[in-house]
Amino acid sequence: MSRLILVIDEGTTSTRAMLFDERGRLEESAQRPLTQHYPQPGHVEHDAAEVWDKTLAVSREVVEAAGGAGAIAAIGIANQRETVVAWDRRTGEPLGRAIVWQDRRTADRCEALKAQGREADIQARTGLLLDPYFSAPKMEWMLANLPEVEAAGGHLAFGTIDSWLIWKLTGGQVHATDASNASRTMLMALSGHGWDAGLCALFGIDPASLPTVVDCAGELGRTDPTLFGESIAICGSAGDQQAATIGQGCLSAGDTKGTFGTGAFILTHCGERPVASGSRMLTTVLCQQGGRRSYALEGSVFVAGSLMQWLRDAVGLIVTPAESETLAQSVDDNGGVYMVPALSGLGAPHWRPEARALIRGMSFASTKAHIVRAALEAQAHQVHDIMTAFAADGVTWSRLKIDGGMVANDWLAQDLADLLDLPVERPEFVETTALGAAMLAAVGARIHPDLATAAAVMRGPMITFAPAMDGASRDERLSGWAEALSLV
Ligand code: G3P
Repeated sequence: MSRLILVIDEGTTSTRAMLFDERGRLEESAQRPLTQHYPQPGHVEHDAAEVWDKTLAVSREVVEAAGGAGAIAAIGIANQRETVVAWDRRTGEPLGRAIVWQDRRTADRCEALKAQGREADIQARTGLLLDPYFSAPKMEWMLANLPEVEAAGGHLAFGTIDSWLIWKLTGGQVHATDASNASRTMLMALSGHGWDAGLCALFGIDPASLPTVVDCAGELGRTDPTLFGESIAICGSAGDQQAATIGQGCLSAGDTKGTFGTGAFILTHCGERPVASGSRMLTTVLCQQGGRRSYALEGSVFVAGSLMQWLRDAVGLIVTPAESETLAQSVDDNGGVYMVPALSGLGAPHWRPEARALIRGMSFASTKAHIVRAALEAQAHQVHDIMTAFAADGVTWSRLKIDGGMVANDWLAQDLADLLDLPVERPEFVETTALGAAMLAAVGARIHPDLATAAAVMRGPMITFAPAMDGASRDERLSGWAEALSLV
């Protein structure tokens, strides 16, 4: 019997296909970078056709390596969230470019809605705040500004990336989104299982253009047999941050993970009842199975690994992201230099789309190493701000599980443990987003009976970083950061 699981991990900067066996061992992997389109400041777009073409190419590569589709038991999907694709149901072709989660073009609209006093109600209903980050204002913008979207009328389909991929994978047979992705659109109430009529009306979205909201595990469609030779069941789907939370085995209330990819996303499992935040954190669906949900509190930091890319590609301060570790270690401290990396505004807990980055505290004694160290230190500071906000909501952490491309950097992992004053755990296998999607697909395909069993069988060992910073040094760092932040 085929037991391999094909995971599609469609992130912001690349799309990947990975093959896992039922014990969570990675057998094959293929990856393609995605073109980032920045047509004007604050605008970030993707070509949805490119997303699909490259996703199909990497998937075919690993299916072929497995010896054909017959070896694959199920597909699991994890995706960049909030990004919106509009397409025509008749042709399956995108209508304009996808608007990416980082895009800030709807900032004025969100401000206007805030000024109308709408935020409290939206937060109470959806767990989200009025920020351009979320999908609904992006859809509204497309309808108002892209004539082809408006003209599609009853043939218009909207979806987040999971939905777009499911549509393409099933040859246009299924227009669905899982509840974890749906909870990021600002169109689904946390207490409801479909689209909220009031929110759809507020943003002018016809619910008929939206996908059906489904579970994160279970067969939600089968691939068009022409794609891989024979059809494969799609049995798991979740937003990448929810998938990483599951992949980290955060299955009980209080368990917390931080993923340091393009941005940094910190989620704490909050059990089966949503926790309302009074400190501008997000409440979100973590997982839905058999219609039953678990919820998470989330702190979303917009710039993490993308800061290293920017330092490398735009500023030329480092040649490889790995060099940042050597540079940070080469100096005793930050030399008084602090960086607030608000390159696309500030996310949680500030939610200031207009904020811009700064580097503070430089003198002639400052070197490249101090600036790069400040960039790395900013990660721990941003997470510390989230930890403080979570605590104000009554959600405290006893440890933090980390993953994502950036955490291969031991210095960064230790700095997190030091500044948070908490044990920080890093799995030996850091691709927890893909692993979480594999776990969901394994449960959806009944390879494992439930997520707890999947976690026990599929997850590997962890390395722990213990806090070792003295209180005075921590206080000095925290006050230096607070001062820099006050200037943004
Ligand atoms: O909410 C945005 C998030 O899903 C993006 O994830 O992995 O592309 O940084 P990533």
